[in-house]
Amino acid sequence: MKITSICCIGAGYVGGPTMAVIAKQCPHIKVTVVDLNEVRIAAWNDPDVDKLPVYEPGLGEIVKEARGRNLFFSTDVDGAIEEAQMIFISVNTPTKTYGLGKGMGADLKWIELCARQIARVSTSNKIVVEKSTLPVRTAEAIKDILQYTGSGVQFQVLSNPEFLAEGTAVDDLLMPDRVLIGGDPSPEGGDAIQSLVDIYATWIPTDRILTTNVWSSELSKLVANAFLAQRISSINAISELCEKTEADVNEVSRAIGADSRIGPKFLKASVGFGGSCFQKDILNLVYISRSFGLTEVADYWEQVIIMNDHQKRRFALNIVRNLYNTVSGKKIAFLGWAFKKDTNDTRESAAIYVADYLLNEQADVKVFDPKVSEKQIYADLDYLGSRDPDQNRLGLSVINDPYEVCKNAHAIAVLTEWDEFKDYDWQRIYDSMLKPAKIFDGRNLLNAQRLRDIGFIVQSIGSANVKSHTVIA
Ligand code: UDX
Ligand code: UDX
Ligand code: ADP
Repeated sequence: MKITSICCIGAGYVGGPTMAVIAKQCPHIKVTVVDLNEVRIAAWNDPDVDKLPVYEPGLGEIVKEARGRNLFFSTDVDGAIEEAQMIFISVNTPTKTYGLGKGMGADLKWIELCARQIARVSTSNKIVVEKSTLPVRTAEAIKDILQYTGSGVQFQVLSNPEFLAEGTAVDDLLMPDRVLIGGDPSPEGGDAIQSLVDIYATWIPTDRILTTNVWSSELSKLVANAFLAQRISSINAISELCEKTEADVNEVSRAIGADSRIGPKFLKASVGFGGSCFQKDILNLVYISRSFGLTEVADYWEQVIIMNDHQKRRFALNIVRNLYNTVSGKKIAFLGWAFKKDTNDTRESAAIYVADYLLNEQADVKVFDPKVSEKQIYADLDYLGSRDPDQNRLGLSVINDPYEVCKNAHAIAVLTEWDEFKDYDWQRIYDSMLKPAKIFDGRNLLNAQRLRDIGFIVQSIGSANVKSHTVIA
């Protein structure tokens, strides 16, 4: 079937950019992105593309080019489903916060609702594509629901996991390493797969478009994220050893990454990985393994999360220890809140957890992030439920100026690797801080030697640090 009309349910970090790029590359296809959230849809339709709900380099121009031509954002979910030949499901699948599988399994409530809505509304045959990250065998549940419509409408379910990374979403979508499409091995399944292959083949070389059965595709998404996260936890584990042995984790990364069997990417030691996928997908993998009785497999992958939690806690405790074992009433300036640079997304950001530890120690936390709003920062903290919202507002404040945030601070903590942090006037910042002025660089972003020359005491991840208490400026 030649597809001319697509709908995507869910206008978030995945659905929005993915559909914008498909619309840009395939002007002959009408792409409608729908969401229940009216505010979000209004923001996608804002004439000022700086106000789009998702910040991604290059996304504004693409939306501007395609919006109103063949890219539409709407809250009319039923209408869009009815009209489309192919429906992408791109709604959130958070970790369950209640009941069976609490804290581990994925909450498929929203996926199921979508499937029921598609079943109810459709009057012509449809291809339903899972785009959100889902636990393996979710397609079975979707198929089950779609099968019993009684309307004679035929559905094919495909899995087409998203591998874009936030902050580089547009480039990842325009030039992906690979596209993965899983479908039913039947002739009808093959036709459905081919319809989706044809869309991507408009701009992606066909040797990069992999087709598999549905279950391999679903599982590959979880496994890809688990492997990536595992590399970070592995290098973070080594970073702690480096701090004890005077090895330097950046040098170790370079040395091991030069082995082509290992490769250089995803070996950057940090305050810990965040984002909406890594933790959730590994917990899913662990939960699924455990539900099949595979204890060793589950424990093996769970260790990646345990190490990541350790790294975040270790970073916070190191700040406390270096400020003479108390940060009570001390001003700690946070540079960065997003889980990585070039995004306004904060889901599972290490900064949230580091702030939480420091607030437990009664620190006075001041935050600056170039793209994250005050509202979001408080929402992240409140979501943890560690203390009353009032106390969060008392203990932490958000300041929209990096120089103000650092003024009179006892210490600076770098939580996100925003490029602009490197170019600040560090002499000016040093002059405005309390002495000894300390920097805890959770991203190994700043030039430590230059900062030390100014007079800062710098603690980087994964290198033996200059004995801080002997140098008092
Ligand atoms: C290894 C390192 O590769 C080498 O750099 C180091 O200097 C010495 O240790 P070696 O033990 O000779 O070399 O062989 P290698 O090819 O690494 O294989 C080790 C084991 O892993 C073998 O039993 C091999 O069969 C197994 N293997 C390797 C797998 O099971 N799967 C793989 O994908 C790769
Ligand atoms: C990830 C996967 O990369 C992507 O393929 C998948 O579709 C969704 O999940 P994303 O979470 O957007 O993408 O960002 P990613 O670049 O993978 O970074 C995740 C976290 O790991 C960030 O907090 C980042 O700062 C951290 N990280 C990454 C490190 O700490 N060190 C590294 O070397 C790389
Ligand atoms: P992701 O990172 O996976 O894109 P987001 O949370 O950014 O996740 O986006 C998911 C979007 O899906 C949200 O905007 C949410 O309002 C929307 N959504 C969830 N359930 C439904 C539904 N049944 N119908 C339409 N939109 C939905």
